[in-house]
Amino acid sequence: MINFRCNYGKIASVEAFRAELDRVPGYFDALRQSSMSGWMDLPENYDREEFARIKTAAEKINSDSDYLICAGIGGSYLGHRAAIEALGGETGRTKILYVGNSLSTRELKKVLATLGNADFSVNVISKSGTTTETAIAFRIFREKLIEKYGAEGAAQRIYATTDAARGALHDEAINRGYQRFVVPDNIGGRFSVLTAVGLLPMAVAGVDIGAMLRGAATERKDILENNGGRAAEYAVVRKFMDDENRRVEVMANFEPSFAYFNEWWKQLFGESEGKEKRGIFPASVIDTTDLHSMGQYLQEGARDIFETVLEFEEDDESLAIPEGDEADGLGYLVGRSLASVNRVAKEATIGAHRDEGNIPVLRITAPRIDAETLGALFYFFEMSCALSATAQGVNPFDQPGVEAYKRRMFKLLGKPGF
Ligand code: PA5
Repeated sequence: MINFRCNYGKIASVEAFRAELDRVPGYFDALRQSSMSGWMDLPENYDREEFARIKTAAEKINSDSDYLICAGIGGSYLGHRAAIEALGGETGRTKILYVGNSLSTRELKKVLATLGNADFSVNVISKSGTTTETAIAFRIFREKLIEKYGAEGAAQRIYATTDAARGALHDEAINRGYQRFVVPDNIGGRFSVLTAVGLLPMAVAGVDIGAMLRGAATERKDILENNGGRAAEYAVVRKFMDDENRRVEVMANFEPSFAYFNEWWKQLFGESEGKEKRGIFPASVIDTTDLHSMGQYLQEGARDIFETVLEFEEDDESLAIPEGDEADGLGYLVGRSLASVNRVAKEATIGAHRDEGNIPVLRITAPRIDAETLGALFYFFEMSCALSATAQGVNPFDQPGVEAYKRRMFKLLGKPGF
């Protein structure tokens, strides 16, 4: 279960805090009425037949492919990459290569070079089926598949995760016989990590997706049975932060493998809350790395920020600081685990930022780094984001602003109709 701590007394009176928590049932009603609320019950209601097909497809891919090319962007990309990297990468034969998340020729050529002549499959992930970045990358790798395996062989190596009933990719998958997985109608991109969008690549990478859904289900139960639980407390504290003009939230993590988890979190909150000239800007750091760069700003820069530390109770204590040349002055650390030094650095950072730097520091504590905990974290942040956006009076599930650049780009590129 995910824990959340902060010094409420410093942020708002107990009465004001309770008054905000009293509004949470109303926020839940509003969320339930939305046509995009499918993620709320997903850990209980997921499609068992599709779940079994995901596992079978993952086994097939591991038996016939050195690489799985995952084409997708935004909510069709960040969640599974976050989980796979946080859990230490692929454990089986198949390695994942990510494409379609930019329009960079250099990045695409790097993937082509890594792929070489190896055996591969493609998972094209797009709810709309029309996203330019994804569609271009898919074209390139579909052609490579056809060159290598012929049209029929290629079709057996393409896995399309898309809308259940409509769209260009949906139609192509039916016409050419690709295996299909569904992004449910009532789940938006950035809330879709626990659907086939995230689960197929994760299963291919060897992530225990059953444990991940169990973790999400346990977290869901706790949240729904406790008026939003810790997720609601985090959302309410964010509202107080917003009210006192704290415009930037910095997610801090002391595990570098969580860099993509931070990216997923930034998309979730940024795209859900940043609208109608409102919203807290989500930023992130990986410490202690960034203490040697952004640490200066966090300690002494503009004070319109607050920090949220994501931490884990269990650590790997197996690596100790060895004896060595005393010239480096590390004698006092000999025999201590590296993990304990990392923990002390974290406590020191929190103290320095909070007590000397005068920024509020929130703490989100998870038991350990494993698939079950990640499932709980995904659900925890989805819920706190949806509640937080609702508390701030914006719709968490739309993203009208992302169309502006697309309209201009399509016009400049000469797309018919623009
Ligand atoms: O959260 C969202 O809805 C977006 O980030 C989408 O996931 C992203 O734009 C990709 O869309 P699609 O899956 O339709 O290609």
